[in-house]
Amino acid sequence: RMPILEQCYNLMDFEAVARRVMKKTAWAYYSSGADDEITMRENHSAYHKIWFRPRILHDVEKIDFSTTMLGTKVDIPFYVTATALGKLGNPEGEVILTRGARKHNVIQMIPTLASCSFDEIVDAAEDGQVQWLQLYVNKDRAITERIIKHAEKRGCKGLFITVDAPQLGRREKDMRSKFSDVGSNVQETGGENTDRSQGAARAISSFIDPSLNWNDIPWFLSVTKMPIILKGVQRVEDVIRAIEVGVQGVVLSNHGGRQLDFARSGIEVLAEVMPVLRERNWQDRIEIYVDGGVRRATDMIKALCLGAKGVGIGRPFLFAMSAYGLPGVDRAMQLLKDEMEMNMRLIGCSRIDQLNPTMVDTRGLSMH
Ligand code: FNR
Repeated sequence: RMPILEQCYNLMDFEAVARRVMKKTAWAYYSSGADDEITMRENHSAYHKIWFRPRILHDVEKIDFSTTMLGTKVDIPFYVTATALGKLGNPEGEVILTRGARKHNVIQMIPTLASCSFDEIVDAAEDGQVQWLQLYVNKDRAITERIIKHAEKRGCKGLFITVDAPQLGRREKDMRSKFSDVGSNVQETGGENTDRSQGAARAISSFIDPSLNWNDIPWFLSVTKMPIILKGVQRVEDVIRAIEVGVQGVVLSNHGGRQLDFARSGIEVLAEVMPVLRERNWQDRIEIYVDGGVRRATDMIKALCLGAKGVGIGRPFLFAMSAYGLPGVDRAMQLLKDEMEMNMRLIGCSRIDQLNPTMVDTRGLSMH
């Protein structure tokens, strides 16, 4: 029998339930990583190489782990990252994530390839609720410009351009499960002429422009006032270049291990990036986010100690939504808040601004 929701005590528990109850094709699309899934596994296990150096005898009676991301105040330093095809897991789709994000005062990033239409997802938000847009850049820039302008008009507060997917990775689990129902929004965003024998991912990605390059970035900056963030940066040289071209943020990410296998985990890249930025005194010139494998509040705390402004979480909310709908997403977010309060207390920090590199021991990361 399916465990009741109250038997899910952490984010991994939702995955175990989802695996049992989801349709095979949906499970294959959500759970898969590229090739041998080494990067996907490493995303999570890299956090296990970082240990805490807790402080004692600081007043931790009241814990406040609220922070700001791109100027928006949030309850806890994570956001719901963009994951395509929400209706594969739940017939209501991404609007469930919108409602969960609202309840916990966190930001939702809306995917270009959502199953619900962009407007449905924006309409599902309440007044003042902040959403961002994840952008796959279309070969036809007129389409892309329309998407950006529309998002800005509808109040989106950040444009996350995905830069790690000039071609979609091979997710073999997904390719094996023949895929038929892509969801309504995909046609509108340019995913026609699909080859459905190649799995969900390949079926919807043919419009993405592989010629996208650094020279295009000024154009994006010129067509919108939304902050622009590059999602999928993987080396310090590119963080520096991002600062130089004038974008407001980067997400150190390998797309949840779904693109280049043997890309390093975001947290490991962060540990490499921040010392270089601090050396130049550039750490405040850009907001740095990390995603991939974040499953515990301790993972979040580690990323913040190392200098991230926040973390993105993807699959756990998909699994919670697929297994239990909105109550599942609600519980997953509440579990993270509960874990956060306890672990902040146990490391001796009552506020986010007290998290710094001295709070972690990173000698287990193979940086040098
Ligand atoms: C993704 N991700 C993603 N990223 C993006 O920029 N555009 C997209 O359409 C998608 N779609 C997508 C679908 C599914 C099913 C997954 C699991 C992921 C990547 C996502 O934004 C994020 O980088 C990872 O999901 C983070 O890793 P975790 O939290 O899933 O381990």
